[in-house]
Amino acid sequence: TRTQVGIVGGGPAGLMLAHLLHVAGIESVVVETRSRREIEQTHRAGILERDSVRLLVESGASDRVLRDGHEHTGIDLRFGGVSHRIDFQTLVGASTWLYPQTEVFVDLADARSRDGGDVRFEVSGVSVLDVTTDRPGIRYTDAEGGEHEVRCDVVVGADGSRSTTRALVADRRQYFREYPFAWFGILCEAPPSASELVYARSEHGFALVSQRTESVQRMYFQCDPTTSADDWSEDRIWAQLQADLDGEDGFELRTGRILEKTVLPFRSFVCEPMRHGNLLLAGDAAHTVPPTGAKGLNLALADVRVLAEVLERAISRQDRTALEEYTPRALSRVWRAQHFSYWMTTMLHRSAEASDFDERRQLGELESVVGSESGSRYLAEAYTGWPEPTQS
Ligand code: DHB
Repeated sequence: TRTQVGIVGGGPAGLMLAHLLHVAGIESVVVETRSRREIEQTHRAGILERDSVRLLVESGASDRVLRDGHEHTGIDLRFGGVSHRIDFQTLVGASTWLYPQTEVFVDLADARSRDGGDVRFEVSGVSVLDVTTDRPGIRYTDAEGGEHEVRCDVVVGADGSRSTTRALVADRRQYFREYPFAWFGILCEAPPSASELVYARSEHGFALVSQRTESVQRMYFQCDPTTSADDWSEDRIWAQLQADLDGEDGFELRTGRILEKTVLPFRSFVCEPMRHGNLLLAGDAAHTVPPTGAKGLNLALADVRVLAEVLERAISRQDRTALEEYTPRALSRVWRAQHFSYWMTTMLHRSAEASDFDERRQLGELESVVGSESGSRYLAEAYTGWPEPTQS
């Protein structure tokens, strides 16, 4: 096969890019090792920034987000057993939307089918070839064992945090940070315990109350990274979550059957540059953030928004220098999001090594954030998403 852009990875980054390229009149082929069903059933984050929603709607990828998603005009930061509202609308005139990543994926996969997009699920043995030539390619084996080769102008590696394409960025530098905790995530059958998100810090650690539907809720609490989901009974989970949220206002979780339990790893990671010759990386393949603040999917969508624009100039207008803009433009947002995710994480979690000083300082930090408008505004601006700088 011959196409213009070969995309490794059919998650939200790869499919959104394929969609934006289609809108710009550029052909692509997407290869993905998982099945569509497997991706649809992998629960991930649920919060979209203002501009992620705008991109989904204005590009024609999803109108369902406005119908089935829920606008959130703020969050609660809860510590010392007291909730403090951070009102995004008042502070920065923006909202976020609760719309699960699995729904974003369904909309993008449907858009590719509707528009005749070429997405090949359940492939194996993917390798990327000749990225420093003007005819790079992707080789893979299909589900029936047939061998294929796709030749293109540009290859995009959107193959997630365990990316194999990343290794082809020969001169890359990688930045890491580990954290001494993880999240225990549950999906449960219960009515909502709060109308918007509650990010809580207690002497036991972090907890987050999120939602999915009227009858299914998503919640997380801080746990040891070595913990096994099987060690936690329903009773133990509810006791931990309720203890994290107890307070003088009598906040009470609405509990129910637990449908799914997962332990989520915590890591900050950036690969620089995000391009090598005619290979460009997008989303988790190039960077991962800890989940606090829900930046992962939003960063992936921001990457491909820049990438689609750069590829349009490189391919349709034959301006190959456009590719050089990609890394610096994408990284400027990536590092701001790295800082924000790190900051939200360290401000709200308890580390076993923390001293009494660290503890009191952390409460001082939270008081500074909720105690004044200027303290809250950074959180509101970063959480709802920085606007893309306009091109000069
Ligand atoms: C969700 C996940 C997050 O990491 C977060 O910060 C907010 C919400 C969620 O799954 O709903």
